[in-house]
Amino acid sequence: MSNYDEIITILPSLIDDKYDITSLSNISSLLNMYMDDINWVGFYLLKDNELILGPFQGKPACTNIKIGKGVCGTCIEKKDTILVKNVHEFSGHIACDSASNSEICIPIYDKNNNLYGLLDIDSPSLNRFDENDKKNLEAICNIIKKGLIGNLWQQ
Ligand code: SME
Repeated sequence: MSNYDEIITILPSLIDDKYDITSLSNISSLLNMYMDDINWVGFYLLKDNELILGPFQGKPACTNIKIGKGVCGTCIEKKDTILVKNVHEFSGHIACDSASNSEICIPIYDKNNNLYGLLDIDSPSLNRFDENDKKNLEAICNIIKKGLIGNLWQQ
C-alpha cells in the first residue's frame, strides 16, 4: 500500500539545508507519490503554541488548530503518534475533507530537539494505517528532523 523503501531512499535528496519550507513541500509531494489510498498528506507546524497549516497535498484544509483539539492537536499534546482507524469515532475529530475515514498523525522535532509540528495523513478507507505504517512514518519523521533548522517562520 506504501512504498516506504522508495520514500526512504529518495528522502535525503529532498532535504534542503537552508529552508525548511522547501524540504517540507517536496516531502509532502514524495509521500503523496508513493503512498496509495490517501486523500491528504501534509504538515502542521507549531507557532505561538498553536498549529498552523504547512506544506501539503490534497484539498484546502483548516489553517489553525489549537493544541489538544482534533487528532492533530491531540498528537501535539501527547507528543505521540495518533493512529485513528475510524475518524468518525474519534471525539473532536476536525473534518477538513469529508472523504477522510482514517488518519495518522506523527509528531516532528527539529534538529535541536524542539517540538516542531506534525505529519498528518488522511485516507478515504477505514483502517488504512497500521503498526507498520506507524513504524515507517516515525522513521521518516526522524530523518526529516535531521534537516529541520526551525527557521520556517523567520522573515
Ligand atoms: N483531521 C485533523 C485536521 C487536519 S485535516 O485532516 C487535514 C484533526 O482532527 O486534527
